[in-house]
Formats: sequence, C-alpha cells, structure tokens
Amino acid sequence: MQSQSALATALHHRSIRRFTDQAIPTEVFEQLIEAGQMASSSSFLQSVSIIRVTDSIKRQQIRTICGGGSETGQMYVQESPEFLVFCIDTYRHQQLVPEAQTDWMEMLLIGAVDVGIMAQNVLLCAESVGLGGVYIGSLRNGIAQVADILGLPTGVVPLVGLCLGYPDQTPLQRPRLPTHVILSENHYQAASQRDLAEYDEQVRAYYVQRSSKALNWTEQVRNTLAKPIRPEILPFLHKQGLAKR
Ligand SMILES: Cc1cc2nc3c(=O)[nH]c(=O)nc-3n(C[C@H](O)[C@H](O)[C@H](O)COP(=O)(O)O)c2cc1C
Repeated sequence: MQSQSALATALHHRSIRRFTDQAIPTEVFEQLIEAGQMASSSSFLQSVSIIRVTDSIKRQQIRTICGGGSETGQMYVQESPEFLVFCIDTYRHQQLVPEAQTDWMEMLLIGAVDVGIMAQNVLLCAESVGLGGVYIGSLRNGIAQVADILGLPTGVVPLVGLCLGYPDQTPLQRPRLPTHVILSENHYQAASQRDLAEYDEQVRAYYVQRSSKALNWTEQVRNTLAKPIRPEILPFLHKQGLAKR
C-alpha cells in the first residue's frame, strides 16, 4: 500500500465532506483500524470502542441528529463510504473489575484523550493513503439518542464520529492561528490584540474566498460559545455512570 509520509500528510490536511462512490478496500479499512488500535493509551486502559455504522437506517437517524433538524445538513454522515463512531468505553473495565471506580472526572478525560488519539491515527493514516475524512462532533446534538441507536450500555459514551472515503473535492486549507500565538516557551504567553485582529482578517479572507460569507474568527467563536453549549451532555454522562465526582 502506497503511503505518504506522516509529516507531508499532516501538513496537507483539510476536512473532506464530499466523497466518490468508491468503497474503501477491506484490507485498507482493516489496516486503518489496526493503526488506530496501536495508538498510545493512557494507563494502558484502552478506553475506546469503535462502532462501524453500515446500517443505512441508523446512518439516516444519526444524520438527522447531526443536521440539527435541517433536511440537508451533514449529508456526508449518511453518504460517506464509511462512518465510524468513536466511544469512550469503561464498560469493559466494569466487566473485568466490578469495583473499578470509573465514575471519576479523570476517567472521562482519560477516555476522551484516548478517543482523540486513536481517531486521529485513523484519519491521518487514511489521508496518507489517499482517503479523506471529517470528524463528526455534531452527533452530540443528541448524544442520548445516538447511544440508543447504537445500543450502547452504561459506561459507554459516543464522543465523535468520522466519515471516511475517497475525496471528491479539494477544499482550501483553513488558516490556523500563527505558531507564535499557540507556542510559547516556559510560561504562558497571551495573544496580543493585534495578533488576534490580524488572524480575524485572515479567516475573513478565507471565508470570502470559500463561500463569499465574510465570517471572522471572533464571530465564529461567539457563534459557538456565547450560549449554552449542549447542556444535556452532563446529565447524559451521569446516566452513563461517568463524571459523577
Ligand atoms: C472533534 C471534532 C468534531 C468535528 N465535528 C464536525 C461536525 O460535526 N461536522 C463537520 O462538518 N465538521 C466537523 N469537524 C471539522 C471541523 O469543522 C474542521 O476540522 C475545522 O473547521 C478545521 O478545518 P479543516 O479540518 O478542514 O482544517 C470537527 C472537527 C473536530 C476535531
């Protein structure tokens, strides 16, 4: 299997939301999952399970949740050749050790970090062999319904989805914050107003070019964070026996 270097692949990243009809060959799919499994794991707890969603009705139901009621939102969840749901899994720990204290907040962080690392191994390796993909956090719009659809037991939380397939688009790369804003040495260095204003302008120019919608980063942050953000997550975690203390 031909594979681009990790560095070249990472530097080329953009999320892909439109795919050709070409299926991912089984041997490629299996290798991607293995690459995910070989990711580092906090305390070697291996706190992740992946659900491969092949049932078209389930895909449709999850797409509706991700689209937030829109008829056409996030269609790639339904249409991508592969759709994986990465879950924090503490059920296995409970199976093995019934007195395991999996309800601490720390366990949630352990699971969330493991999920992120495993999923990124899968996406990066997928991109390195010519595939593309996009993460799907919007399944948390209806986290309890997604858990029902996938038959998740207590101790298991659907954290993020991943659409995968062969790209049918080459989107512009989204500009990131300048390196000196996110990297500092020995002590935290807050971003200057000037840096943030310059970056706002860069993001605005990107959006104008992409979609003629002049949205800057400040507006994007405000749109996402200046309101309650999925307040039903905490009660769901508690119901699943997580993050209780
Ligand atoms: C955890 C996570 C969840 C995401 N959820 C969604 C999603 O639900 N729908 C979507 O279209 N993109 C989603 N994205 C993709 C981001 O919008 C995208 O990574 C970001 O805008 C940067 O663009 P790029 O990946 O093309 O560089 C998600 C990304 C991450 C890391």
